[in-house]
Amino acid sequence: MQGSANLNLMKKAARKVGRALVKDFREVENLQVSAKGPGDFVTRADREAEKTLREELLGGRPTYGFFGEETAETEGADPTRRWIVDPLDGTTNFLHGLPHWAISIALEHKGEIIAGVVFDAAKDEMFWAEKGGGAWMNESRLRVSGRRSLSESIFATEIPAIGKATLPASLQDFARLAPVSAGVRSWGSAALNMAYVAAGRFDGYWARGMRPWDIAAGLVLVREAGGLLSAVREGHDPLINGTILCSNEPLFEGFRKVIRGE
Ligand code: IPD
Ligand code: CA
Ligand code: CA
Ligand code: CA
Repeated sequence: MQGSANLNLMKKAARKVGRALVKDFREVENLQVSAKGPGDFVTRADREAEKTLREELLGGRPTYGFFGEETAETEGADPTRRWIVDPLDGTTNFLHGLPHWAISIALEHKGEIIAGVVFDAAKDEMFWAEKGGGAWMNESRLRVSGRRSLSESIFATEIPAIGKATLPASLQDFARLAPVSAGVRSWGSAALNMAYVAAGRFDGYWARGMRPWDIAAGLVLVREAGGLLSAVREGHDPLINGTILCSNEPLFEGFRKVIRGE
């Protein structure tokens, strides 16, 4: 399967940054760590990765905007298109030597995400999707899982860290879902959670307190793999509202009811 020129640019940028991050990951003890707030770390690796992504993506598409986690937003001459980028999703895992982190790149057009790449460089798994073109991992087509009952399904979430306002609500969600499901995982990378839902590895995922760069690429991956998604409350846009809930179609309504306590 061949993607568009934009997708090729996104994958090329992700691979370039992936090589640098894998090198940093092997020598992670040499990285200086600073905290933006309690439990919220940033390193040279995050900043350099974003710089490279900015150069590569705007080098290829100079008229697009750029919105990333680590630098101020840049508006492009074309106000309808922007890159939404998380240069390193899962910084805390990275710092602990846990090989579960990813580079996330999304392309937004008129408020809609039309292409996304989530690259797990440590495992060489490139998840990618484009509106209308299906979802893929490397050269394999992806499809959400086929499970139909909550009790057979495993779900991912992110239990927030110290200092996060969303912690009490997330714990309440967890307490509702754990007793009726086959398990809940909190593995520390929002982007990979969504890629794994697209791949049918997780049956569903929900979280609160997400920023656009955490979930933007994941949105198109899940949709193109046949999944459903929404904010936790109906009628809200996950990119604005910061809550996300997604799964395959058979589980979706039941899953959403449990999380909403209905
Ligand atoms: C974090 C991860 C984590 C989520 C946090 C995010 P970062 O992103 O996605 O899974 O629980 O809310 O901030 O800071 O490692 O890019
Ligand atoms: Ca961060
Ligand atoms: Ca993130
Ligand atoms: Ca990040």
